[in-house]
Amino acid sequence: MPIHPLFDAGTIAERVAELGHAITRDYAGKDLVVVPILKGSYVFAADLVRHIALDVAVDFLGVRSYGDDQNSSGVVQITTDLSRSIEGKHVILVEDIVDTGLTISYLYDNLVTRQPASLKIASLLHKPARTRVPVKIDYLGFTIDDVFVVGYGLDYGQKFRNLPYLGIVANEDR
Ligand code: PRP
Repeated sequence: MPIHPLFDAGTIAERVAELGHAITRDYAGKDLVVVPILKGSYVFAADLVRHIALDVAVDFLGVRSYGDDQNSSGVVQITTDLSRSIEGKHVILVEDIVDTGLTISYLYDNLVTRQPASLKIASLLHKPARTRVPVKIDYLGFTIDDVFVVGYGLDYGQKFRNLPYLGIVANEDR
């Protein structure tokens, strides 16, 4: 299946480093927990935390979003919960993409009830054309058009997560 390049590895690396530096500045002296949302964000999160020059804890949230390969339904099930309490901690939720916003807003509302000191969102990609629930993304990599993106953690039918770049699967190939 042809994948059309969108952002190459160097462009992604530069942007991710910038986000890491911004987080380093904003969270100096704070008790920070970075929470990647599995699976899509694992590559982004792995690179991002290596640009955060602070003592940072990492904990994971596993979620299953009902829907087909390309559309989430907004019904989200937590399949793996955090291993530690986040009460009183500064938490950054890390997503690969905010599409309709349904997944992240569900998770935000869930985590905020656990009384973190603060809760923010980092996402590599945002697709505003598909917004159903407006979401404030505090650390955003790139805004993209309404295209289907794979690579750098993002999949199509569980494939292509290992591509070192972000690419587009053309409509006629889906
Ligand atoms: C993707 C992505 C987000 C969600 C975004 O997950 O990682 O969690 O969809 O869509 P939304 O804003 O419309 O809710 P996906 O269900 O593809 O699972 P994965 O992360 O395991 O690939």
